[in-house]
Amino acid sequence: MSEKVFYIKTFGCQMNERDSEIIAQSLAGKGYIEGMDLDDADLVILNTCSIRAKAEQKVMSLLGYLRKNKRANPALKICVAGCVAQQEGDRIIDRMSHVDLVIGTQNIYNIAELLVKADREGSVVATDLKDQYDIPNLLPSSDSDPDQNNTLFRKFVTIMQGCNNYCTYCVVPYTRGREVSRKHNDITDEVKALVNEGVKEITLLGQNVNSYGKTNEVHPANNKYSFSDLLHDVAEIQGLKRLRFTTSNPKDLTEELMVCFRDIDILCPQFHLPVQAGSDSVLKRMNRKYSVADYLDKVDKLREFCPDIALTTDIIVGFPGETEDDFAGTMQLLETVRYHGSFSFKYSDRPGTRASTFDKKLQIEESVKSRRLSRFQARQDEISLERNREYIGKIKNVMIEECSEKGVRGRTDTNHIVHLPCPTKLPVPGSFIDVKIVHAGNHSLRGEIV
Ligand code: 5AD
Ligand code: SF4
Repeated sequence: MSEKVFYIKTFGCQMNERDSEIIAQSLAGKGYIEGMDLDDADLVILNTCSIRAKAEQKVMSLLGYLRKNKRANPALKICVAGCVAQQEGDRIIDRMSHVDLVIGTQNIYNIAELLVKADREGSVVATDLKDQYDIPNLLPSSDSDPDQNNTLFRKFVTIMQGCNNYCTYCVVPYTRGREVSRKHNDITDEVKALVNEGVKEITLLGQNVNSYGKTNEVHPANNKYSFSDLLHDVAEIQGLKRLRFTTSNPKDLTEELMVCFRDIDILCPQFHLPVQAGSDSVLKRMNRKYSVADYLDKVDKLREFCPDIALTTDIIVGFPGETEDDFAGTMQLLETVRYHGSFSFKYSDRPGTRASTFDKKLQIEESVKSRRLSRFQARQDEISLERNREYIGKIKNVMIEECSEKGVRGRTDTNHIVHLPCPTKLPVPGSFIDVKIVHAGNHSLRGEIV
């Protein structure tokens, strides 16, 4: 029997990117191979995101498009995975009868079996969420990565799933369930296997990595084993050159973790620390459990331990009830912290969240949200440019990610992309070279090989 071709389209965050790799790994060797063309596939998987309404709309419009493909080829299988699948469940099949499989965030490991079931029984919905479970181990296999040469040297490793924080705007606790951490040795085994395959840089992933190990046992001999302990253990793995992690909730950022930036050589001086808003009353209504002053104290302390750390953040503008004064607080925070970069979003009301039950009178008009977002982004762009200019004239070690006759692209430890002119002898992807930064834009740097 010839192999069937599957195509995965991934929406949303890095967690979903890693989940898509897991889906690909779960299908490999079970009669499927990965293809690069949606229109030529026998199986299309949409790994979806529901963090904001716009992300969900994109999924729905692609599903609309796929209806035509299914009509032309009734043997085509369509699978919706990820957060929209988890949240909408049966409703997806009610609206989109051409969908064969709806697979929730905890069920992706069983995709091959569920597809067999869908073949036998028609549409299948698998969206059960358990509070406690072991995150299965899927060690990477050398043929599981269809990328050419650009991301092979940088990989994500999931260390925990779910979230127990219930920020009032956020669907994640509902779409990804309770917080569960992986066993410490499962994580180190996965990193070792990746490093053996040539991976140089690992990003440890979780919704709130600072609470790693808090809700279930991760180390049988040490019930205090923390995220910092994990960082130390992963950093010991021979051959690993760079270590990063994301994401952290500031409320759980401990001094123990800050010290890691001073003490662990390969831990990159870069920290994504989402603040969400610069007003205490908004933070309170978001249920973030820290004040602006708490946050700024932590930033100061972090910079004491690691003066060159590049900080980035997430911001939501137009949260219900956000006044001009509240927004001015967010703008002021930009001036105080001077982030290297940020991701900023207009508040999007998500079904099932606490904020969606707030008095509708508190909702901020779309035009006001747009104006605030533009103001925020314009100022952030200026600050990013100023920050990036601080690197001009400095020598930075970059890992080469992509080389072609058109040019060379690398990445600094601070997570800045550096473009290099094409040298006569092309550097090898995955190698490290010293470059002198000669130019700064607001999203990337330009360098010369020294
Ligand atoms: N509306 C807008 N932005 C949101 N985020 C999470 N939920 C929402 C929402 N309902 C943003 C937060 C989070 C990032 C991943 O997405 O800033 O940190
Ligand atoms: Fe969502 Fe808050 Fe959990 Fe982050 S910490 S995933 S914003 S609930």
